[in-house]
Amino acid sequence: MDRNASLKAVLLGCCCLLFSVAGARELRVQHTGAVYNHTLATILVEYASAVYVSDLTELFSWTCSRCDGVIEDFEIIEIVVDVQHCLQAFVGVDKDLNAIIVAFRGTQEHSIQNWVEDLYWKQLDISYPGMPDAMVHHGFYFAYHNTTMRPGILNAIKTAKDIYGEMNIIVTGHSMGGAMASLCGLDLAINHYANEVQVLTFGQPRIGNAAFASYYTQFLPNTIRVTNDHDIVPHLPPYYTHFPQKTYHHFPREVWLYNIGVGSLVYTVEKVCDGSGEDPYCSRSVTGNSITDHLSYYGVELMADTWNSCKIVMDPHVKQYRNEDVHGNFILSKKSSIIRNVDTKRNSDDGRSSF
Ligand SMILES: *[C@@H]1O[C@H](CO)[C@@H](O)[C@H](O)[C@H]1NC(C)=O
Ligand SMILES: *[C@@H]1O[C@H](CO)[C@@H](O)[C@H](O)[C@H]1NC(C)=O
Repeated sequence: MDRNASLKAVLLGCCCLLFSVAGARELRVQHTGAVYNHTLATILVEYASAVYVSDLTELFSWTCSRCDGVIEDFEIIEIVVDVQHCLQAFVGVDKDLNAIIVAFRGTQEHSIQNWVEDLYWKQLDISYPGMPDAMVHHGFYFAYHNTTMRPGILNAIKTAKDIYGEMNIIVTGHSMGGAMASLCGLDLAINHYANEVQVLTFGQPRIGNAAFASYYTQFLPNTIRVTNDHDIVPHLPPYYTHFPQKTYHHFPREVWLYNIGVGSLVYTVEKVCDGSGEDPYCSRSVTGNSITDHLSYYGVELMADTWNSCKIVMDPHVKQYRNEDVHGNFILSKKSSIIRNVDTKRNSDDGRSSF
């Protein structure tokens, strides 16, 4: 009897513990809807890394060394390459996650240093459509909205849903690719697939003002922005505390990775930040002065395999999957016949021309 009683006490104790943990998580959910999941982040960082691969044969067949190592059960639906603007993205299906993955490549400029220096001077120069007072930088906006990226990705998502049925969509990217991922996620949430979209980016810059950040969070609460230690890019374009209404402003929720300890006892803390987007105790508490910290997240390399190139490597047999427009921009599609049908439909739907 005694034994039973103490067992009950232990069980009761466990229940209380569970309740308090669940309670804490609930609070976080109510705040922005985003819950940080370390395992998911370490899977998505592999996609954000793979999309940098310039050998499209390996990427298309998912055999590149950055591809097949960690994630096996993945099928590329489409690779979108905007040759004019040197942009690359892919859409595929992760069967383990039961999700459509959209991944955007970061910048491919000659020098990451120059690209970062340019970020200081980006102006909040255009209004985000339909959001009073929301301003963004035109470069980020047009990279997604005014290139072949948007129609390519929308078609590929449609194709994935036609083949696999309804699935959630996870959008990811690193650096400039993270900026494009969040604009894509927002577009999907507003115009296409509300409630099913999740965004997780790595080392992305700020893209808009406080009004934009606030709308963003309303439409797309399920967003995590991972920042790494002293990575400089999340600090740019700058946040001016003394001009809160005029400055760039991040949306939540930041998760800041930083190292503590010395020598062989260093370990990484993953801090879930507050719901403001500009938590002063997260990456903003340190100087953003590192490019090295920008190029590696969770130990995964996030950069071009060769800088200074929009160079594309492709086997002749892969070219048969290619649909090219008059400017040389193209998509590689596993289901090119389906894509063509979808294209035709979409064009008649909204008059937007794609490939
Ligand atoms: C975190 O994500 C992984 C991969 O999607 C999933 O298997 C796991 O259940 C998730 N954990 C929680 C607590 O949601
Ligand atoms: C958007 O794209 C169109 C067609 O490519 C181009 O003519 C236009 O200048 C672009 N707009 C901006 C502001 O870049």
